[in-house]
Formats: sequence, structure tokens, C-alpha cells
Amino acid sequence: MPVELTIGELSERSGVAASALRFYERHGLISSRRTDGNQRRYERATLRRVALVQAGKAAGVPLERIRQALDTLPDRRTPTKRDWERLSRSWARELDERIETLWAIRGRLTTCIGCGCLSLRTCGLLNPADEASARGPGAHYFRRRDD
Ligand code: FES
Repeated sequence: MPVELTIGELSERSGVAASALRFYERHGLISSRRTDGNQRRYERATLRRVALVQAGKAAGVPLERIRQALDTLPDRRTPTKRDWERLSRSWARELDERIETLWAIRGRLTTCIGCGCLSLRTCGLLNPADEASARGPGAHYFRRRDD
């Protein structure tokens, strides 16, 4: 097995398109050295970095966050099993927080269904801290003035 991989070999073995690998490299997720002919050569260990990037993407982790995680590895080394356990645990917590946020937004959106007021003062979605949104859908202040 070769010590270094061309971009075609890395693409074939990782299942990631060469264009995506170049994108990852531009964004600091992986790195290569250049030959005298200016061709990319990747260390075999890059396969594991690409696998981690793909796993993070599959979990919905933004690429910038994945890059930050890879940057925490000493000397930008290849992630070990223990690294992956640590990073995946941290990302699981972040996903839980995002899910909680989305459920809260979903709850506020419920009051908008069938309403259509889009009121900056009373809509629970547009003005989540507004107590008037607890009264249900509708422009309550407007109704009060007209009563
Ligand atoms: S549109 Fe959101 S409460 Fe009316």
C-alpha cells in the first residue's frame, strides 16, 4: 500500500468526489503536499480525517465546526478512536441543544398556524418574549382598541 495517495486514490478509497476533497483542503479540513509537478499527495492517514469529516457532515455538524474540532488535535494529527469518541460526544450535546431550540421554535410556530397576523408585537414567532402571544393567535391589542 502506498505511503501517499493521489487525489484520485483518496477519492476512490473515501468515496468522496475529488472536487469535495479540494474544497475540504481549501477550508483547512485536510492538507496535502505538492509534488514537483504541482500535484497533490495526501498521507494515508488523511483517509481517517475524511471519514471524520463525512461522519460530522452526516450528523449535521457545520464544516467550520468540524474544522475547529480537527484543529484541536495535537500537531493536526489524525483522529484516533478516542478523539472520535470525544468529538462525537461533544457534537451529540450540540445536536441536543439544536433540537431543543428547534422544538421551541416549532412550539411558537404552532400559534401562527391559521393566524396570518405576522404582528411584530404579538406574534410568538416574531416576538418570542411577548406575553401577548400566550393569549393565542390574533392581534389582541388591535382588537382591544376596537372593542
Ligand atoms: S402570525 Fe404568528 S401569531 Fe399571528
